[in-house]
Amino acid sequence: MVSNGKYNAAKLALELVKDGMVLGIGSGTTVEIFLNLLGERIREEGLVVYGIPTSYQSYYAAIINGIRVVDLVEHEPELCIDGADQVDAKMNCIKGRGGAMTREKIVAKASRKVVIIVDESKLVEKLSMPVPVEVLPFAYGYVERKLREVGAEVKLRHGSGKVGPVITDNGNFILDCDFGVLEDEDVEKTEESVKTITGIVESGIFPKKMIDSVIAGSLNSARFL
Ligand code: A5P
Repeated sequence: MVSNGKYNAAKLALELVKDGMVLGIGSGTTVEIFLNLLGERIREEGLVVYGIPTSYQSYYAAIINGIRVVDLVEHEPELCIDGADQVDAKMNCIKGRGGAMTREKIVAKASRKVVIIVDESKLVEKLSMPVPVEVLPFAYGYVERKLREVGAEVKLRHGSGKVGPVITDNGNFILDCDFGVLEDEDVEKTEESVKTITGIVESGIFPKKMIDSVIAGSLNSARFL
């Protein structure tokens, strides 16, 4: 079932896309709705849009919808459109429920503008969900101990449709790390303390400084925060 909030947020973001644009394309169900709507515009208006997807999911959705897939070697995306799992009152985000946060962060950082599209149920006062962390399988045991030392409750993410750990599109494991409630002033510090552990590839903390705008969709409308 399509959430109206996701649909309305995706529809408002669609207005930001111009002919000839290079997009950074996040992952997740909200982004997939956005790509399907963009596909309609491409078919109806004959737009040419280039895109750099961040997962197999958004790669195939981009191809199906007529977006010309390119890469970061030749292109710097003008605009990155991505979803999020939680967005706090200052626009700090947690991402990675779909396991794509590493490529999402690379593409977001490479983009000139980053717009997050969410159903308004993702809006919270303070971040509190477990932070997804991508880790090299070889480093798993060590990284888990180190994350516990910096205060996280750590769970290795297991898949459905396969026994054993979830393997990311980059061939790595995901640890879901519960740091409790993250105050605005702790968000960047937590990201830094996670990133300094050897063997960690990336975390799903997207501090507010990375985000230009958030579009929140509700049952009947969408708004820029
Ligand atoms: C993918 O790893 C995530 O970062 C998604 O962007 C995030 O989980 C939002 O997904 P939905 O749009 O499916 O809620």
